[in-house]
Amino acid sequence: MLATPSLVPTLIELFGMALQRVSAMARARLAPPRSAGLSASSKSQEGHVLLAGAGPGDPELLTLKTLRAIEAADIILHDQLVSPEILALVPARVDRIDVGKKGYGRAYRQSDINALMVGLARAGRRVVRLKAGDPLMFGRLDEEIAALEDAGIVHAVIPGISAAQGAASALGVGLTRRGGARRFQAITGHAADGRMPDDFDWSGLADPKATTAVYMPRATIATLCAELQGRGLPANHPAFAVFSASRANQKVIAGSITTLPDRIAADESGAPCIVLFGLGARAHDSVSERAAAEAVVA
Ligand SMILES: C[S@@+](CC[C@H](N)C(=O)[O-])C[C@H]1O[C@@H](n2cnc3c(N)ncnc32)[C@H](O)[C@@H]1O
Repeated sequence: MLATPSLVPTLIELFGMALQRVSAMARARLAPPRSAGLSASSKSQEGHVLLAGAGPGDPELLTLKTLRAIEAADIILHDQLVSPEILALVPARVDRIDVGKKGYGRAYRQSDINALMVGLARAGRRVVRLKAGDPLMFGRLDEEIAALEDAGIVHAVIPGISAAQGAASALGVGLTRRGGARRFQAITGHAADGRMPDDFDWSGLADPKATTAVYMPRATIATLCAELQGRGLPANHPAFAVFSASRANQKVIAGSITTLPDRIAADESGAPCIVLFGLGARAHDSVSERAAAEAVVA
């Protein structure tokens, strides 16, 4: 159907609107992300908080979005696990506070971190809350977002590459595998009190066709592996530990759910460590192939 004269201005208007939308999208990409729930204009004089992931350590695994947030920040509140190479990217004019938690004790309690973020944003500062890996994974993100929402602070989340992805790429295997590992699950090795969580879904964990990442495994990996054997996983079920994934001092240990716990216990480096099991035989081959080049223990 031909356009009638009365429709012509409408089409031109539509084109104009589309152009405006494209340029608005381009501007939005350059601007720091905003919380969907809060009006940006009413808050423009106030600060904001960006909860951003720093990735597993290699600065090249930092997203451009997090890098730009760091460069545009007034202050960075970072975890202890954020690597020195990434902290070196923080401009000299930007303040930095290490709010990292040490072991089960804490440099800053969670409530202190929440109060600090809220106070700084209320004072008009652009805050980046920089977390190791992906803030969406074992990062107490929801607690921090709840505090920001309660205080009406503009905020947004920038995801990062998690330790499990950094570790799997070190091993050169996928976290899921067609016909092999049909499911990927991530657990933490210890609960808030430092003990192994008592509400694990054991049948899911003992599923031989699942890949499991165990974050913070050091304190409880022996108990976990013994329990998995008791629940039917074979003693030779492959298991890997990756220390300092993606960093210059990365170390990989290949073993089984029987042998891995002692090998982890023998590591006294204090380096961050993640365990992956269920990756299949090819991961072992991959580790062996890299052993010579990377001082890998297989
Ligand atoms: C509080 S959790 C934070 C996880 C983080 N949000 C992530 O997505 O990777 C800390 C744990 O993540 C794991 N982790 C973090 N970075 C790591 C790295 N570069 N290599 C190995 N494990 C790492 C360790 O298990 C460490 O104890």
